[in-house]
Amino acid sequence: METHGSESYFVIGEGLLSESIGGRDGDGTARIASASATAADAVPPFRFSRMGPKGTGKQISEAVALKVGREMAAGGGGSGPIPAGFTYLGQFIDHDLTFDKTSVMLGQNVSPAQMLQARSPALDLDSLYGAGPGDPESAKFYSDDRHLKMGKTVAADGFPGKNGFDLPRGQGNTAAKKRKAIIPDPRNDENLAVAQTHLAMIRFHNRIVDTLPNSVPPSQRFAKARELAVKHYQWMIKTDYLPRICAQGVINNVFNNNKRKVFEPNATPTDVPTMPIEFSVAGFRLGHSMIRAAYNWNKAFDFGAGILDWLFIFSATGGDLGGLQRLAANWTADFRRLYDFGEANRPNLTVGANRFNRAMRIDTALVDPLKTLPPETFGGNSNMPFNDKRRNLAFRNLMRARMVKLATGQQMAQFMKNKGVNLTKLTKKQIREGKNGADLSLLTEGQREAFLKDTPLWFYVLREAELGNGKMKGVGARIVVETFHRAMEGSEHSIVRDTTFKPSLGPNNNTFRMVDLMLFAFEGKKNLLAPLG
Ligand code: HEM
Repeated sequence: METHGSESYFVIGEGLLSESIGGRDGDGTARIASASATAADAVPPFRFSRMGPKGTGKQISEAVALKVGREMAAGGGGSGPIPAGFTYLGQFIDHDLTFDKTSVMLGQNVSPAQMLQARSPALDLDSLYGAGPGDPESAKFYSDDRHLKMGKTVAADGFPGKNGFDLPRGQGNTAAKKRKAIIPDPRNDENLAVAQTHLAMIRFHNRIVDTLPNSVPPSQRFAKARELAVKHYQWMIKTDYLPRICAQGVINNVFNNNKRKVFEPNATPTDVPTMPIEFSVAGFRLGHSMIRAAYNWNKAFDFGAGILDWLFIFSATGGDLGGLQRLAANWTADFRRLYDFGEANRPNLTVGANRFNRAMRIDTALVDPLKTLPPETFGGNSNMPFNDKRRNLAFRNLMRARMVKLATGQQMAQFMKNKGVNLTKLTKKQIREGKNGADLSLLTEGQREAFLKDTPLWFYVLREAELGNGKMKGVGARIVVETFHRAMEGSEHSIVRDTTFKPSLGPNNNTFRMVDLMLFAFEGKKNLLAPLG
């Protein structure tokens, strides 16, 4: 399961929906690649569900998906206000949500209930912890009974190699195996930005361990640190990440009033949650529109020199670390350029606007390099031709929706209204015209009319955001916020269920933002947040 998305979806009540768009294999075995066939057969699949109706008879043709996909990935849209670090925090969160813990639990003595939980969405940082230091399969991620391993960069371009700035690597006997990150979820090494985000989370956990009061006995230090890490992480997602990408009114309505209206509204909180395909195949793919083509990455790769292609190359899942076996020191992230520490009143940890990176606005426009993804990012064959349509991420997303017969934007809007959600449907004119987003004029009149009537959900929610100044609203915000709420509610550690929790690692007991997490993880030190200076 090393690709970021699924090639097949087991939807509860419907069974396996599967069709290859050019991944490693079309039948879904990529999800369980590390398991033996017998063990794999014995485990239930990841628990996807359908939130709304089926979109039978309302799907676009492959020809239309290709035209729209090309149009969407033609660039444009411009930057939005969100610091670019949040793009890859989003990817990290997606992997946490969709992490299939059985990939590190197989062969263990696992009860059916644990097995079910392991194949369900949760915001528990399982992609960081695996099954914990006490589990023989996961022990390799740990340096002792409570700390997660970190790796060392290799000297490059006059910058010395340093401990603690790369993911742990170096096991195995082939170059590829030595390169491979020793982390529970190798998808977090798909590009350098998500890899460095994973590393920040490793540091976050380790620092919590190191700052626990002495009164916590050794046998409880890991568990206590993990609980604190998870609850702070959920707090940060609810109060900082979500409000940046979704309308605050929807977050308040769902979280403060505990009012899920469309997704598992009556679930017993501790029941095992499912993952709605409307979130996985459309809503949360919002992150694809936030990706930049180039970053002011660090002192060595400044002023746009950190192009997306390099971020793939300097990872071991999307690339080959530039032929090395560890990250080159000159590629270490400068987090001051990805998060705005001015928000935490740390002007000494900020860079000028010309060096800061903002995510692209959330809208129907994707940057051009996403038209030709490296095949490794979706488990495709590395010699796939450059212009192969299967390398276009927008085309893949639209085809995936077709494969699972996803509800259209209009169907979801009506479904939500029927459930009492207060929202305004987009008009045909709004969907056609948008606001500096993808242009639909390349469609024939007939194709366009059909597209405006039955709009693919991913396009619809991005159009909503485009018309809402780059923030998800309406249908898109509901799908995203309700799914997050349920995933937090159903997590082993949960700030939704534990309403007494207050953050203790930020500036006060009501505040814990991503900048606070980073400051805590990197000890507030400039030489750790920006080791190249
Ligand atoms: C450079 C960064 C990224 C790349 C290269 C990438 C690429 C991909 C690919 C190839 C897929 C599978 C497409 C398919 O065949 O269906 C996928 C799925 C997905 N992506 Fe991304 N993505 C990136 C960033 C993000 C971000 C930032 C988010 C959200 C904030 C996101 C959310 C998702 C979701 C929700 C799925 C579906 C997951 C599943 O099937 O379990 N991605 N992405």
